Amino acid sequence: MTPPARGHPPSEDADPHRPIYHFLPPANWLNDPNGLIQWKGTYHLFYQYNPNGPFHGTIHWGHASSVDLVHWTDLPIALAPTPGGPDKDGCFSGCAVDADGIPVLIYTGVHPQVQCLATGDDELIAWRKHPANPIIAAPPPNLDVLGFRDPYVWRDGDAWYAVVGSGIQGVGGVVFLYRSADLIHWSYLGPLCSGRREETGEMWECPNFFPLGDRHVLILSPIPLGKAIYLIGTDAAGRFTPGTQGIFDDGGCSYAPQVMRDERGRRLVWSWLRERRSEAAQREAGWSGVMSLPAALTLRSDGTLGVSPVPELAALRGESWRRTDLTLGPGSANPLAEVDGEALEVAIEATLDDGAHLAIDLRCSPDDAERTRVGYDRTAGVLTVDRERSSQDPTVARDTARAPLPLAPDEPLRLRFFLDRSVLEVFANDRIVLTSRIYPTRADARGLVASAVGGAATIHSLEVWPIGSIWPAGRKEREPS
Ligand code: FRU
Repeated sequence: MTPPARGHPPSEDADPHRPIYHFLPPANWLNDPNGLIQWKGTYHLFYQYNPNGPFHGTIHWGHASSVDLVHWTDLPIALAPTPGGPDKDGCFSGCAVDADGIPVLIYTGVHPQVQCLATGDDELIAWRKHPANPIIAAPPPNLDVLGFRDPYVWRDGDAWYAVVGSGIQGVGGVVFLYRSADLIHWSYLGPLCSGRREETGEMWECPNFFPLGDRHVLILSPIPLGKAIYLIGTDAAGRFTPGTQGIFDDGGCSYAPQVMRDERGRRLVWSWLRERRSEAAQREAGWSGVMSLPAALTLRSDGTLGVSPVPELAALRGESWRRTDLTLGPGSANPLAEVDGEALEVAIEATLDDGAHLAIDLRCSPDDAERTRVGYDRTAGVLTVDRERSSQDPTVARDTARAPLPLAPDEPLRLRFFLDRSVLEVFANDRIVLTSRIYPTRADARGLVASAVGGAATIHSLEVWPIGSIWPAGRKEREPS
């Protein structure tokens, strides 16, 4: 199967799985978020992009910007492989920094994997690759490494620091720490952190390292785990000592998150939401991969990472449907019978009796043949997203995602769902996010059902907002540069 011809990007109208308010390129392949930066007020999102089709290959940096974190403007491709150059086989992941008023991208060129730098104009449109590339030409010597990629750079005082993801053959993942005075000449300081292969995988992709509250956070995307983990700990003299560890999003599709600090001092995060359907289906659709919604990270008082959708997302909301003070129990009527949709935000605040299990079903067909169930079990303190019946298409992934969510006795359950056709992001109590890709086959799989078994659930509030497309009609595909 071949992708659609250039100039005819996949259309929201024709493709029921194509999200309408999450960022994705007009067509083709997207993976990691890259180079996140707020430049003179405007947010810039770069991303791993293949202009030649909906599959991983010929990796460029796509580019879009936003003033409100909700609506995005497509900009020209920022980085393309240079024939004969150190990035001839791809411009892999990296970051953006403000070097005293000059925008700078630091990224991985392949093959072999080396670190490269490009400087931009003040609009972040035209990028010039530095003649000194590669600026880090090889991993530290005398190590048998698996990969050497995804630089993440920050400034501390007069110096620049970078971490680069890698792994030591037979040992486990590692991030190497570097320092530079000018972003061009780098000295290796040693490993910032390393792990055991049996525990945290053989190679760490896409490291992010940043202060949060009075701690430091290291976010990693380990191979072969396939989902990002976070470590919270202390940083002293170039060595990070992890304490708390957790999974960033255990929904089964989120990977390679990147974190930026915005002008308000927030740590914002985006991640790549992989497809969970066949490659043949992706090729036929003409697109693959979508960006998560922006979320803000916090350090919680129990030492774990907090995550919540940014407040700006409220701008997406259409007219609200709202109910308050309902009791749901075995045999209750469905309070959501009069609403439906495939692009919605849902917010619910509820208190559950001991033993109660609350379920909110989305994308339900009237005969219940298809549905995706978000459940919370009060006794177990576990949030689930059950996708076993999300689709009657046997080729898509159908499984159940779980995350521990123990609630204090007086703490209500607070859920926010962002449903956008094949994307479902579930945020809970500003603590966790579980993201799913779902591909219902039925055009009538639009219903919502709320129910409780095993005990009563007191619903303090239940609110649903429809969300429309963020894109102008006739959005065009970008030509490769
Ligand atoms: C993570 C990753 C990175 C790499 C990029 C290539 O998804 O494998 O390590 O730089 O994707 O597209």
